[in-house]
Amino acid sequence: MMNTRCDRTAAWGVLQAHYDTDGLGFDMRRAFASDTGRFAALSQSAPHVFADLSKNLLDQRTEQLLLAVAREAGLEAHRDAMFAGRHINATEDRAVLHTLLRRPASAAPSGDLAGAFGDVHRTLDAMLAYAEKVRSDSTITDVVNIGIGGSDLGPQMAVLALDQFAAPGKRFHFVSNVDGHELAGILRGLAPEHTLFLIASKTFTTAETMANAQSAKRWFEQSGGVDIARHFAALTTNVAAAKAFGIDTTFGFWDWVGGRYSMWSAIGLPIALAIGADGFRGLLAGAHAMDEHFRSAPLEQNLPVRLGLLDVWYRNFHRFTTRSIAPYHSALKRLPAYLQQLEMESNGKQVDMAGQLLTFGTSPVLWGEPGTNGQHAYFQMLHQGTDVTPLEFIAVRDAAHDLAGHHPKLLANALAQAQALMVGQQDAGGHKNFPGNRPSTFFVLDQLTPESLGAFLALYEHRVFTSGALWGINSFDQWGVELGKVLARDIEPRLASGDVAGLDASTAGLLQRLRPLA
Ligand code: F6P
Repeated sequence: MMNTRCDRTAAWGVLQAHYDTDGLGFDMRRAFASDTGRFAALSQSAPHVFADLSKNLLDQRTEQLLLAVAREAGLEAHRDAMFAGRHINATEDRAVLHTLLRRPASAAPSGDLAGAFGDVHRTLDAMLAYAEKVRSDSTITDVVNIGIGGSDLGPQMAVLALDQFAAPGKRFHFVSNVDGHELAGILRGLAPEHTLFLIASKTFTTAETMANAQSAKRWFEQSGGVDIARHFAALTTNVAAAKAFGIDTTFGFWDWVGGRYSMWSAIGLPIALAIGADGFRGLLAGAHAMDEHFRSAPLEQNLPVRLGLLDVWYRNFHRFTTRSIAPYHSALKRLPAYLQQLEMESNGKQVDMAGQLLTFGTSPVLWGEPGTNGQHAYFQMLHQGTDVTPLEFIAVRDAAHDLAGHHPKLLANALAQAQALMVGQQDAGGHKNFPGNRPSTFFVLDQLTPESLGAFLALYEHRVFTSGALWGINSFDQWGVELGKVLARDIEPRLASGDVAGLDASTAGLLQRLRPLA
């Protein structure tokens, strides 16, 4: 079932030769001048998303060679293994089936996945019925989601992104950090009888979430709250632990849903509470449309594949170490943070499936802010700095407000920035010189809707799958987060006792400084 690592394919050597001769000095301005079909060839429509890849440092020949690597590496077989529920998350011996969560009831699979599919739809129906019940309960004015990582970022990002579809009358709060300032600040504005707490944790063991959940429950009881069953619900694969915690209203999911792939499951309840059952089904439908595209479009016209291959090209040949995300829509404010976990927790790995050390780079650093804000902060460096950072513009054609003049200005800025990065500007004096030839990808959504958001996020998931598959890594585990958790458990009691035995001198010195004064 293991795919062949990209650097072990014969096509990899051909790609390297192409990079050495044509890739290194590639100039997009010359490429546009010599090929009038460049925009058409390097842009495409996929469900709900249009993408222009033509302002990137590649041409059709580069794409062909990358596709040859993908085919030889067994990308298609690996993709099909994921959809079929094979245990491609080998280090945890788990299937990877977030796509099943998006599959509509009318497309029930037969065979091995039939049972899981039935569970998915029973849970989805129950969760959406609950969401509608809470939505029509005007006494609940505040919903507090307590969760971290995948149990926070997706719902938080989507609730914000789809705010224009949210019914009025409910406020949504997200508490993730174990830093009590966050929870305390939110609790200050709440009344227990008007609040619903959602405890979101795949494992129901995550230290931050458990600490926040305990404190929320204590606050609820101490503030005169009654009827925990009505005011607390748990979203988890560990229903037994939620019950032991004292929560009876639970919505489950399964170990084959990774944390960063879980907003399509019960973890998405805040989204359903905000935009309703139909809206949530729209989100799933958009993602499913992209799943079908990824599963069935020929690789040459498969948008997630083309993007994933571009990522490999940039990381392993151009050796770019970061990628910047620029959503030109303020409702997509939390998208960069969401994509950070999706890509960096998935592909931030240094060994392959067999545990062998890789000799090439994997996940880039993802970062970004909404446009036009970023333009007045770090775009200077993108235009004239010494490093090249590929940029991703996400623009939405139709505005969801009627303030005159704003949207054309916003879109003009997105277009102008992408243009400026590419064309540059000559200045013999130097300070006003823009080297140009700086790459960007430009995404267009017609409107920001549950469907288009779902499709866009699924596009990203499958793009991350593609680069991870070529690199031969397991994109679905996250062992790198464990060591710090273990050490924090050791350090916490030392902060109280002052015991620094066995600690390195720096940690010991800092611990002494951070101990409260007696
Ligand atoms: O520590 C990383 C992580 O395991 C993420 O992968 C996950 O999304 C997050 O913690 C939260 O985990 P849980 O949902 O189990 O509380």
